[in-house]
Amino acid sequence: MRLSSPKMNVMHKACMKASKSLIRDFGEVEKLQVSSKGPGDFVSAADRKAEKIIIEELLKANSSYGVLSEEAGEINKNNKNNRWIIDPIDGTLNFLNGIPQFAISVGYEENGEIVSGIIFDPIKDEMFFAEKGNGAFLNNSRIRVSKKQKLKNSLLVTGGPKFDNKNKKAILEEYNDISGCVEASIRKFGSAALDMANVACGRFDGYWQWDLHYWDIAAGLIILKEAGGFVSFAESYEEKSIKRNVIATNSNIHQELIDSLSKKLLSKINI
Ligand code: IPD
Ligand code: CA
Ligand code: CA
Repeated sequence: MRLSSPKMNVMHKACMKASKSLIRDFGEVEKLQVSSKGPGDFVSAADRKAEKIIIEELLKANSSYGVLSEEAGEINKNNKNNRWIIDPIDGTLNFLNGIPQFAISVGYEENGEIVSGIIFDPIKDEMFFAEKGNGAFLNNSRIRVSKKQKLKNSLLVTGGPKFDNKNKKAILEEYNDISGCVEASIRKFGSAALDMANVACGRFDGYWQWDLHYWDIAAGLIILKEAGGFVSFAESYEEKSIKRNVIATNSNIHQELIDSLSKKLLSKINI
């Protein structure tokens, strides 16, 4: 690993340990696909198991640190200065269906700002990581965002809308509109963390998505920034500390992508 601060070492160890359990369980999922009950409960258990391993490892290093994790919720709530933001499996639906596109995502937040993070895809053995001021990496190589200048030539990725999203229709209309602005068809890979990581290493030029959770993108924020990308949020409210509507690009196409977003959706968010 090219970064060796105590924080990176702890995150790395936690991810490696949890990934062993995830890889084993992913192997079982295929067998369960054909059973009448399906793999649903098994996957929930795999998710919780991985989360437990990650939290235990992280808290072993600093027992007073705060944790915000998708399944376990908040731990050491009063510590807002040092906090781990965890998604044990980002891309659960892929995992559940035996599709190898999911990742563990761990971000470390200091005084409200994500300053380091890891996104680990255990199946492809790709570890994306970054630390504020020290660059972003994929395994042993430094990564940079793409150099594309125009939205029209860009490869974009998005996700959603969720089944119960009240703005579903507007989100799909927006998808349609943005599809009309780009030559290549927009991708949907089903893991927000990997979508961000893949913008960071230049595979995609931009990513946007409505209605996410902080743990989906926390690690991705610093990885993308350190790779030279730019992240902004559709929310204009400063006090909304947990932003949910993200626009993440190689910087060059950022404004063009923002200008193409649905005005209808933006006005609903910023009321
Ligand atoms: C989901 C993934 C997906 C995104 C969803 C998220 P999960 O996280 O990131 O790409 O479209 O909004 O909820 O449930 O797999 O951890
Ligand atoms: Ca997630
Ligand atoms: Ca998850």
